[in-house]
Amino acid sequence: MPRILVIDDEPELREFVVMSLELNNFETVEAENGKKALLILEQEDFDCIVSDVEMPEMTGPEFLKNFRDINKIIPVIMLTGVKSLNTVVEVMKAGAQDYLVKPINVDELLIAVRKCIEFKKLKEQNILLQKENERYQQHLEEMVEKRSVQLKDALFGSLIIIASAIEAKDEYTKGHSNRVRLISLDIGTLMNLDNKQLQILEYGAMMHDVGKIGVRDAILNKNKSLTEEEFDSIMSHPAIGANIVKNISFFGPMIDCIKYHHEKFNGEGYPEGLKGENIPLLSRIVAVADTYDAITTTRPYRKEKTNIEAVQVLIDGKGTQFDPVVVDVFVMNKLYEKNYIFKDKTESESGNIKPSTIILDDEAILENFHKTKKNGESYLYDEM
Ligand SMILES: [Fe+2]
Repeated sequence: MPRILVIDDEPELREFVVMSLELNNFETVEAENGKKALLILEQEDFDCIVSDVEMPEMTGPEFLKNFRDINKIIPVIMLTGVKSLNTVVEVMKAGAQDYLVKPINVDELLIAVRKCIEFKKLKEQNILLQKENERYQQHLEEMVEKRSVQLKDALFGSLIIIASAIEAKDEYTKGHSNRVRLISLDIGTLMNLDNKQLQILEYGAMMHDVGKIGVRDAILNKNKSLTEEEFDSIMSHPAIGANIVKNISFFGPMIDCIKYHHEKFNGEGYPEGLKGENIPLLSRIVAVADTYDAITTTRPYRKEKTNIEAVQVLIDGKGTQFDPVVVDVFVMNKLYEKNYIFKDKTESESGNIKPSTIILDDEAILENFHKTKKNGESYLYDEM
């Protein structure tokens, strides 16, 4: 049986409303003013409230305002003795569902109450649907999250495969790509790069030598000095790499790391001879990480050097080969004391090379490439 709360300070009128409702199979509860009604409403639920406007202690509109703060569902019908537009506007604004003008007509009262009960049912159904929808959305978000983790693993897995393919061509560079990734990430983090830049750096560093796929193994593994032609071939690997990935949107943001990791700060690098800050920052970071790792590992043409010797090379190359800021970040923070060789070994032996950053989204190909004159010269420590 639908339950109605009747609020009126005049006992006769309250009785009249209560009797009219009970004779028509509604259950009623009475309150003589807004304050008492609020107390009852703390304990009980109703399908509709019928309330007078003019009451001592708390008027109908005041009651409505207080009640709407805690309950937006139970419809309220206001009984106004004043046929004034202002009162009607006021109560409707305060959140009344309907209003009736005194003297009350029983038929009109019943119609209004029944409409309100229907309205409440619809509102409740609507809330249920909304909750259902929220649950569905949440489920969907969880699914998307799960899928993107799988996608991230798959994509990063393919980067590891590509890096392994590069390194398989040159046994001396095993683990190089992953170590350059680890070192670059540490430098980028210390330079307070934002997450987006760190992601690009991480993936770009991992892929920086992808162009070596296009260089003959015999050249990569040669332990004697290279002919000019062989130098040209090896020097083409950044451009080859950029060419390989240029049409794949996922790799788009990483092109700079691939194409410009052999540019030098003084403009004497390749492929474009970019100078200073015209070299993209991420490429300048990869250049330092790349060189440091190359020096501290054995290459076909020389034995590995100590980390202190490698740091000296970085310091000597400040402002000529390397961005001095990047070198300072590496040196001042003593990154050379970290054992990247061991870290890579642990990660790769346990098959646990995982990205530190979240997956890239599709936007943003980095800034336009600056074209300057190629001017290849000293390749001392410009490790391939
Ligand atoms: Fe390279």
